[in-house]
Amino acid sequence: MPRILDGAAIAAAIKQEVAEEVRTLAAHGIRPGLAAVLVGNVAASEIYVRSKVQACAELGIYSDLITPPDTVTTEDMLDLIAALNARDDIDGILVQLPLPPQVDAKSLLDAIAPSKDVDGFHPISAGRLLAGRPALAPCTPAGVIEILKRSNLPIASQHAVVVGRSDIVGKPVAMLLLNNNATVTICHSKTRNLAELTRQADILVAAIGRPGFITPEMVKPGSTLIDVGINRLNTREEFDRFFAGNEKREAAFAKRGSVIVGDIHPKAFELSGAYTPVPGGVGLLTIAMLMANTVSAAKLRRGL
Ligand SMILES: NC(=O)c1ccc[n+]([C@@H]2O[C@H](COP(=O)([O-])OP(=O)(O)OC[C@H]3O[C@@H](n4cnc5c(N)ncnc54)[C@H](OP(=O)(O)O)[C@@H]3O)[C@@H](O)[C@H]2O)c1
Repeated sequence: MPRILDGAAIAAAIKQEVAEEVRTLAAHGIRPGLAAVLVGNVAASEIYVRSKVQACAELGIYSDLITPPDTVTTEDMLDLIAALNARDDIDGILVQLPLPPQVDAKSLLDAIAPSKDVDGFHPISAGRLLAGRPALAPCTPAGVIEILKRSNLPIASQHAVVVGRSDIVGKPVAMLLLNNNATVTICHSKTRNLAELTRQADILVAAIGRPGFITPEMVKPGSTLIDVGINRLNTREEFDRFFAGNEKREAAFAKRGSVIVGDIHPKAFELSGAYTPVPGGVGLLTIAMLMANTVSAAKLRRGL
């Protein structure tokens, strides 16, 4: 039986450690602070940001939720970022994506002070990660590494194959695996003979954004499967492709009219040695790592 890597338990352990660090900092008169910028009324973004603000409250981190209207201009947003960069009570700045089309997201992310870049998207943060220097790493990739380490799964000398090369997941996760001494192969939509490569993986990370894309024939038996994908299935036909006969998922589908599936086909998990489920795996680490990054930023900024 494959081992299920429980994202909830790992995220809870990280949050507990962060709360302890926050208490220690409080004894020195320091309270880490996160500014969360939520533009407009995108329902999914509202849910994500609410969870982030709530996590801050749980762990004793100060948070400031700033909600510009969806008519905001790039200039207004740049002024806001400059003000947040200058505030001493703010250690981390989070701009929830996506932004409305008139706002130049790249120039905003570049304007965030690297010392407050708790999402780890700034080119300087990416460069530090590449150079093997202390860096605020992007939260989801950092969560992948925490899952592997805290589950005592080896990384060094393992062949890690990452499918996906986005700036927010694929590239940073590959770099973190390399920094932890894995042998890393990065695959993408132009990769030839993808299955041949994924079948060599001791650790296979899927960050593609396509439901159940990694099928059982693409997986080495006994390997570790890390599924970053979050894909919503809304129709009966889609549901049946993955979960026909699965009573638990059937109940969820009946209740909500949709279910979530990762980038790895559930049948492939059966062949693995260990895997992260979707939901309940990598996704739960993202907020925990954002909290950890906020505390790290607070300490680094003060030379602690
Ligand atoms: N908190 C979380 O858990 C979290 C956070 C972020 C993202 N996600 C999820 O992770 C998934 C990936 O997100 P992302 O932002 O990295 O997506 P993305 O920016 O769309 O990147 C997808 C990557 O997959 C590659 N790809 C697409 N089709 C492929 C194919 N047929 N064969 C091989 N590679 C293929 C693309 O290759 P090219 O570069 O060649 O186009 C690209 O590099 C999504 O499901 C997203 O929802 C989860």
